[in-house]
Amino acid sequence: MPTEFISLTFPNASTEVNPIPNALIDPEYLIRYARTLDDYGFNYTLVPYDSSYFDPFTVGATIASVTKNLKIIIALRPNTLYPTVAAKALATLDQLSSGRAVVHFIAGGSDVEQAKEGDFLTKDQRYARLEEYIKILRRAWESADPFDWDGQYYQFKQFSNKVRPINGTIPVSVGGSSDEAYRIGGSLADIFGLWGEPLKETKEQIDRIYAEAAKAGRAENDRPRIWVTFRPIIAETDELAWVKAHRTLDTLNATRASGTGKVPSNAPPPQNVGSQRLLDIAARGEVQDRALWYPTVTATNARGASTALVGSPQTINDSILDYVDLGAELISIRGYDNLNDAIDYGRYVLPGVRKVLKERENSGKAN
Ligand SMILES: Cc1cc2nc3c(=O)[nH]c(=O)nc-3n(C[C@H](O)[C@H](O)[C@H](O)COP(=O)(O)O)c2cc1C
Repeated sequence: MPTEFISLTFPNASTEVNPIPNALIDPEYLIRYARTLDDYGFNYTLVPYDSSYFDPFTVGATIASVTKNLKIIIALRPNTLYPTVAAKALATLDQLSSGRAVVHFIAGGSDVEQAKEGDFLTKDQRYARLEEYIKILRRAWESADPFDWDGQYYQFKQFSNKVRPINGTIPVSVGGSSDEAYRIGGSLADIFGLWGEPLKETKEQIDRIYAEAAKAGRAENDRPRIWVTFRPIIAETDELAWVKAHRTLDTLNATRASGTGKVPSNAPPPQNVGSQRLLDIAARGEVQDRALWYPTVTATNARGASTALVGSPQTINDSILDYVDLGAELISIRGYDNLNDAIDYGRYVLPGVRKVLKERENSGKAN
């Protein structure tokens, strides 16, 4: 499988470093952003989910209607949609987009966040429910016959689905860094999403996921494809990129202190293991490996993907290739100045990484 690139969807000009409070969707911005990703050769865009945020399905359908190749990853928390409804919604998007729908499952990393939409299960229960949910969706996509379900979290009778994905099924991604995430994702997912950690820790996580896949009886050629996420801060030279990185950090700290940032200054420690891991690594030092930078993690309490890669295009590309060499096939990159960063990545990172991979392929060296 080739190395592919993912971005995140932004529905308006609000950014983490220049937040526009209560910004509405700006359809023109959304379309311009989505077309930029498509034109510059990004393969996917993730449409994120948050209890207080826009509906990913309608945003995803809008993106589908204005792009040609970009695949649309819908972030989905099982508590928010009955599984048969989700199966049809995703298959509808898949048909609308000629087979470009992907789903990224979020078991739910925070009890407080889950409770906001009526979900009071424990985290272990949420993962058990996710396991059942994925099995129902696959059955609904693949089964021509009506079927009953008598599970722990869902029961229904004679569900009959006439809304099928174009290619028979839809790729299923799972994200997280807890034992349960590895187990469910390793055994069931087509794609496993990780946040950017140092090479050693990323390798450990990949090994855990592959071990769970093997335990579930999956062959080596059927393991989840690995997705890793970074926030590259790129400039013409390494020196200029570091100046930009510190300027970005100062702004993140200032917005958080003023209460306009993504995370309040008195936010409690995160409950999800992925964020806890990022904060633990941040405590060990600012820079890991070539250019993986952690102060942006601490400044945002590790809320979401927050590890930066800092440097010139060459440094960023070499860093990304380190992860490709570890086995990552999907590289998610988004910056802090969303549209301009997507253009910079499209001009310098995607072609640079792809050129090296092509050269390796031509010289017969596997990646
Ligand atoms: C690549 C990636 C994307 C994610 N996107 C979202 C998202 O859109 N919304 C959300 O609430 N959580 C998102 N998460 C967070 C985790 O899925 C979530 O915290 C998980 O349910 C529990 O994490 P844990 O297993 O590490 O404890 C994402 C995680 C990863 C790795």
